Amino acid sequence: MIAARLPGLIWIVIAYTVSLILKIKTVPAIEQYVIFTILILLFTTIYCYSNLFLPGRFWMYFVLQSFIVYISAFFTQDIPVIIITLYPLLVGQAIGTTGRKKNYLFLMILVLFTINTLVMVPLEIIDTFLLITLPTMVIIVSYAVIFFNQVNARIRTQYMLEEVELAHQQVERLTLHNERQRMARDLHDTLAQGMAGLKMQLEATNVYLTKGNDQRAKEIIVQSMKRVSELLADARLTIDNLRLNTKEKYDFQQSIIEEVQHFTVATGLECHFEFRVMQQLSSTISEHCLRVISECLSNIARHAKATNIWIRIEEKEKVLFISVKDDGIGFNTDMKINKDGHYGLLGIRERVRIIGGKVDIDSKKDKGTNVQINIPLQGAE
Ligand SMILES: Nc1ncnc2c1ncn2[C@@H]1O[C@H](COP(=O)(O)OP(=O)(O)OP(=O)(O)O)[C@@H](O)[C@H]1O
Ligand SMILES: [Mg+2]
Repeated sequence: MIAARLPGLIWIVIAYTVSLILKIKTVPAIEQYVIFTILILLFTTIYCYSNLFLPGRFWMYFVLQSFIVYISAFFTQDIPVIIITLYPLLVGQAIGTTGRKKNYLFLMILVLFTINTLVMVPLEIIDTFLLITLPTMVIIVSYAVIFFNQVNARIRTQYMLEEVELAHQQVERLTLHNERQRMARDLHDTLAQGMAGLKMQLEATNVYLTKGNDQRAKEIIVQSMKRVSELLADARLTIDNLRLNTKEKYDFQQSIIEEVQHFTVATGLECHFEFRVMQQLSSTISEHCLRVISECLSNIARHAKATNIWIRIEEKEKVLFISVKDDGIGFNTDMKINKDGHYGLLGIRERVRIIGGKVDIDSKKDKGTNVQINIPLQGAE
């Protein structure tokens, strides 16, 4: 910022030094120089911090600076260097800085300049003075306008760069946040969900063992072992995805069929399954849909107390429609979906939102639950 004001500062120092040298030659009055120096220091400081005033409080800035120039000019009486140098600096700055309502400002500067000139320059030589001074001032003003325009452009660029940097940091924060959400969802939908399924299978084994049905208990244990292997593979795949951002190619229909089979074996519930999708779905859509359906099934197994489940997946006019319905106890869908310890429905909503779809959960007490999802397939990755 100070570097941008360097030419202005050099200009002020030259004006101050020349005034002082010429003055000392004529009137050696120390106290006058001290006051003059203080005033010029004040002018310089305000000039250096002009960004605190401009453009918002430009009136305060220019009135203050003009009066400092006006008063300092009296301390170098008969030597009009301050008038010739600092008024044009202010005019140039005013032209370069402010947009509207500056006619009054120029009028004020002109009045102060006229008074200063009339007081300091003898009447007999005023025409000669103006003849030399005015063209000089026009040149100084023109230079000042160009200079301040450049300074403003530089300051604006600086602000823009700062804003870009801020936006960049925000994007980084959001990316981090999204990654954390993705990890939480993946952990929930692989490990947590898998553990819940295994727990149910172990409970079933326990019941069969208690009843003395060792054969059935053994069957479930074998299935559970197979399920554990699959879960481990699933967990590894999730870790791979997190590490490498790779996407496994899904056979969507096959994956859903396997998921439904696991569910039926684990719960013994009847599952009516319809699949009518001709289009090859992208791995992103396939993966998210598979996770959503398996969370719906997990919820049915854990909460619904249902006897029948209907899963319908069909594609109509470039829209993938998924419905997972049960005839269980239902629940109140108005409750806060992301309350602590319950992340499944939240994950469903997040996944569907990522692939540009919509979720509608229809559930009534003792009337079952229907989770319906629409995903536009056109233009989807
Ligand atoms: N099909 C359903 N039938 C009855 N209640 C359901 C059903 N699906 C969800 N719920 C209710 O909605 C609540 C929230 O479900 P959500 O999947 O978000 O969490 P959760 O299953 O309790 O825990 P998790 O984080 O392990 O999934 C459940 O606790 C349950 O009360
Ligand atoms: Mg759940």
